[in-house]
Amino acid sequence: MKLEHMTWQEVDNRIRKGAAIILPVGSTEQHGPMGRIGTDTICAKAVALLAAEACDAIVAPPLAYTPAPFNTAFPGTVSMPEEIFQAHAGAIVTGLLAQGFLGVFVVNGHGANLAPLRAIANSCKPEQMRIRSWWEPEEVNGLRRDLYGDWEGMHATPSEVAITQYLLGVLPSGDASEAPTKLTQEYIQEHSGDRHGRPEEHRQMFPDGRVGSHSALATPEDGERILAAASQSIAREFLDFEESARSCTSLRG
Ligand code: NI
Repeated sequence: MKLEHMTWQEVDNRIRKGAAIILPVGSTEQHGPMGRIGTDTICAKAVALLAAEACDAIVAPPLAYTPAPFNTAFPGTVSMPEEIFQAHAGAIVTGLLAQGFLGVFVVNGHGANLAPLRAIANSCKPEQMRIRSWWEPEEVNGLRRDLYGDWEGMHATPSEVAITQYLLGVLPSGDASEAPTKLTQEYIQEHSGDRHGRPEEHRQMFPDGRVGSHSALATPEDGERILAAASQSIAREFLDFEESARSCTSLRG
């Protein structure tokens, strides 16, 4: 259920029963020739909403403006300075907790969100905030590996493109029809969490916007499977999180 569709009385009832809340966090950035600018937000939101349906959870409005400084040389990318994002997201988490939600479960869709989100989580009690990128649960990771192997790459991944294709239709592959340059293990390790270079350098290195990802392998059918796997895993993890938040609160009295 979307928080913004509820009345305050409905929210009050849920808080009184002891509820945590899901917060989707994405980005507004280029995703290669066949990936939509809102890919990360679209994926995080879809996984969150489907998970919430499965476990009767509430989903807060998604955060779409987040740090993506390395992609600003590509049209359509809007990057929020990291410290502003951290303050903004931190205020939202604090606000939700202050309203009486037991905890905030972040469904993340963008690597560069992780460092500032973890900094926020470090300032909360461990049971009050959990961060999970939708692609991390083992079932999802296994499926990505089976479907795309190394061609999943790092950005404009076939799995994220597949989810948007399932939800919104397939865009022509254009320059993305050929495989991109394959990334080395060293590159992947050094740049995890989206630690990429300066915007002009980044565009020069990855001229069509894909970072080692063969987006054109995506299909809407894959997207449906990946979305189902991600939302089921996230629903289970959310229930576990909510349960531990509940028992910590009752122990504290
Ligand atoms: Ni993405």
